[in-house]
Amino acid sequence: MKQLKLLGASLLVMTFAACKDGTSGETVNPSGTINITEINQSPDKADKFTYANYGDVRMTHLDLNLDVNFDRKVLDGIATIDFERSDKNASELVLDTRKLKIESVESFDGKDWSQTSYGLSAEDDLLGQALTIPLTSTTQKVRIDYETSPEAEGLQWLSPDQTAGKEHPYMFSQGQPIHARTMAPVQDTPAVRITYSATLRTPPELIALMSADQDPNTPRDGEYSFDMPQPIPAYLLAFAVGDIDFKAINDHIGVYSESYILDASAEEFSETPQMEVANEELYGPYLWGRYDLIVLPPSFPFGGMENPRLSFLTPTLVAGDKSLTNVVAHELAHSWSGNLVTNATWRDAWLNEGFTSYVENRVMEKLYGERRAIMEQALDMDGLKRALGEASRPELTHLKMPEDITHPDDAFTLVSYIKGANFLFFLEDRFGREHFDPFLKKYFDAYAFKSVTTEDFLNYMSENIRNRFPDAVTDAEINAWVYGPGLPETARDPKSDAFAQVSKIQGDWFGGKLAAGDINTSDWSTHEWLHFINSMPAGLSSKQMEELDGAFSFTGTSNAETAFAWYMQAIKNNYDPATPAIENFLMTVGRGKFIYRLYAALNDNGKGDWAKDVYGAARAGYHPIAQRRIDAILK
Ligand code: BES
Ligand code: ZN
Repeated sequence: MKQLKLLGASLLVMTFAACKDGTSGETVNPSGTINITEINQSPDKADKFTYANYGDVRMTHLDLNLDVNFDRKVLDGIATIDFERSDKNASELVLDTRKLKIESVESFDGKDWSQTSYGLSAEDDLLGQALTIPLTSTTQKVRIDYETSPEAEGLQWLSPDQTAGKEHPYMFSQGQPIHARTMAPVQDTPAVRITYSATLRTPPELIALMSADQDPNTPRDGEYSFDMPQPIPAYLLAFAVGDIDFKAINDHIGVYSESYILDASAEEFSETPQMEVANEELYGPYLWGRYDLIVLPPSFPFGGMENPRLSFLTPTLVAGDKSLTNVVAHELAHSWSGNLVTNATWRDAWLNEGFTSYVENRVMEKLYGERRAIMEQALDMDGLKRALGEASRPELTHLKMPEDITHPDDAFTLVSYIKGANFLFFLEDRFGREHFDPFLKKYFDAYAFKSVTTEDFLNYMSENIRNRFPDAVTDAEINAWVYGPGLPETARDPKSDAFAQVSKIQGDWFGGKLAAGDINTSDWSTHEWLHFINSMPAGLSSKQMEELDGAFSFTGTSNAETAFAWYMQAIKNNYDPATPAIENFLMTVGRGKFIYRLYAALNDNGKGDWAKDVYGAARAGYHPIAQRRIDAILK
């Protein structure tokens, strides 16, 4: 098939240039309003991480008809795309692709399909290649015969011996932020929403799942069809295929996983229905039909991913005591903040993650009470302060990320999550819960199934709550949070009595007043343990590390959060008895939050050579996203 190279590297330059002009409206003016123009008309809505010409032509529906080919580690088949023109004269549709092999492109004029030429721009390492398809005035749909690459960053292909069951292969996807384009040709920007349908063919003994409607009782026959009738951004397109079983939690909530961890997962997450109720009481009905969880293999690089109707989770959450279920509260909360109301660009990621971290904590408070909610706030605040100290430049500590971030991942630090959540805590305190809760509910309703910018939110706030309480917050206070660095002085200080108690005991231990073995820890939760470990002063002696480990058996503990916290101390304090356990952890856990910092700490503490050896053995089992990150850390 001949392939017209219509466009070269110049396309990249043009795309960036088109977004650069006059970025205005980045501060709240003295009257508290910002001029909002329609989405995509305003330069600050422009997403520089897409090639798509979504201001002129937008995809509206994606249909996938794919073979899931485990032998070749590819998805292979046809993507059919419906679109809408906002520019009536638009003469091309530009899609994002990365490492896709395009076999042919056809267009449909209402009667017939016919082959069409297309252009593929030169490959950019991060953004991939623009696929430009010419449109005539009669073109109604296009379809693309393509296959993915075995190296697709958004897909991990596991061989049978990399699974718990050891008998069948497994594949799962990760679309956020810009990996959907490694799975299918799409307009891969959160500013564009699509409905989708899909048919997947798999080996008949496997089950296929997607971020769409699916029947938990579907027979295993190797052909699975899905519908996602609600418009979602491309980053929420998701697949999981493997020897996967299902267990119901209630009539519309359940868990999928390999069988070894299914019962434990259903038990660990048995409070998901109450979380859903708590969320609905605050912000209105759950609008997505079923809500299922899937516990993935340990190489899943995140704690959780909010794929609609089917949150993806790491097995490290299955601690046996429900101590880490805030991640489920978080992914569920994205059903309002993120999936319903979506950040229009990755510079606005705090609208997804900060709002969600806030809602997560509100739900945890409703279910488990203030004591636990404040402990979680305090742990988060410690993490934020560390992250603020490590930021490479002050602009990366603004909520609105600077225009020149080089990768969307730059927007997914604790700044977006925890500074973002704390901005909302601040607003809640100033307006009062009784006013702020209904305001947020109205915001989710007003922008349901839409993509919004930071400025849209600030304007909405001006017009829907600040107007009623003009003295509650000042423009200067808001600007400090959104467009200013660090932690504003108006931040809430989460004061945990439980942690104060732990700190006092820790002080007694340091002062020699109390032996570690005599500390009464019988009612400590994981949170207290994390505070105890994380708040140790720098420079513990081997003797002190040994005493702690002897009393509490931290090394090798099965709670992944506690283990991680302890291993960070072990690395910083050169506590060698933990080395085999750290190696085992790195060989068996692929969750980025843990392993990126462990590798970096090893590297920074004179153990870089050992870290490289371990990584050499572990790398093949890690997800491509984690491989790229750790390659950079250890390079
Ligand atoms: N959407 C994120 C996961 C993500 C982040 C994907 C960045 C791609 C890029 C998800 O909702 C998330 O935030 N997960 C957290 C858990 C949460 C409780 C902070 C995680 O993975 O640890
Ligand atoms: Zn999140």
